[in-house]
Amino acid sequence: MAKVLVTGGAGYIGSHTVQKLLLSGHEVVVVDNLSTGFKEAVPDGTDFRHGDVRDSDFLSQILTKSGIEVVINFAAKLNVAESIQKPTEYYDNNVGGTLSLLKACDTAGVNKIIFSSTAAVYGDSCADGAISEETQTGPINPYGWSKLFSEQLINDAAKASDLKYVVFRYFNVAGAAEDGSNGQRTANAYHLVHLASQAGTGKRQELKIFGTDYPTPDGTCIRDYIHVEDLADIHVLGAEHLLRGADSATLNCGYGQGYSVRQVISSALEVADTKFAVAEDVRRPGDPASLVADSSKMQALLGWRPLRNDIRTICRTALAWEKKLTSQIT
Ligand code: UFG
Repeated sequence: MAKVLVTGGAGYIGSHTVQKLLLSGHEVVVVDNLSTGFKEAVPDGTDFRHGDVRDSDFLSQILTKSGIEVVINFAAKLNVAESIQKPTEYYDNNVGGTLSLLKACDTAGVNKIIFSSTAAVYGDSCADGAISEETQTGPINPYGWSKLFSEQLINDAAKASDLKYVVFRYFNVAGAAEDGSNGQRTANAYHLVHLASQAGTGKRQELKIFGTDYPTPDGTCIRDYIHVEDLADIHVLGAEHLLRGADSATLNCGYGQGYSVRQVISSALEVADTKFAVAEDVRRPGDPASLVADSSKMQALLGWRPLRNDIRTICRTALAWEKKLTSQIT
């Protein structure tokens, strides 16, 4: 059992991962500035510290005093469209945050890092077939670049020290905890499954399809949607991999199964309480046509097997969580 620091542990993926770490018997310290995270999402039994990952002194003190062995870094901004409008904010938060974390780890002598990266590092380089870690990177938005730059920082730091890392490149994370305890809380919903679940509860009247002229079978973008609890399990395995003294790795996280926007909406409508309208709209800037993971390297290295690989399960759990949130407010 290890002491783990989770930055961004009040966020969507972070808080689900904290829960899985606790269930696996690890001790967890969470650092979060609550800019987009929620204190109530942090599971009981966690040592919560309010603060910013860009404050390197604050981090190194926690790392040292708490005897942290491994850091999982979720703290970042992650909205593609916003990154196009506010690139410097994204570089400051995401690249600046990674740099600060690396400095703090160096000061405190912590040499194991799990880093949240994204399929956005691949840009548009992969319209047909699944993307492996060897696929050429080439982000098409500042968000993707901020993550690729961060990966480079970690790589360089590891070459110059005894640092070991696992970089996870997430495809589209969605869904909510199957026991109904957690899910996406973001005030301004942005992601397709989240928006569809809000529409399914009647919170939204209509869902838009951004672009119907992509070079895909039904003209809409294809994504590989991975259930948030499967992704959380992957992080526990990643941390335990480093704790065993294993080598660094960069790994894709997805199911290897793509769904178009139209297919996701049709699953969301199947599970919805309220049937909602669907309208066709123009393309959203910065959207690649297709992103589907080849995650065989990750599965082989960590021994992970998907447990919730089903778009209906993803839509059903997301809807159930949205209903719970709505009932708490009203
Ligand atoms: N979409 C719609 N209507 C909506 C919302 C989204 O048609 O109302 C479409 C988008 O245009 C896109 C697809 O649904 O084609 C998925 O969009 P999301 O916003 O749900 O997710 P993204 O693919 O843009 O991005 C997500 C994460 C990124 C990550 C990427 C990797 O936000 O961090 O997945 O696959 F890089």
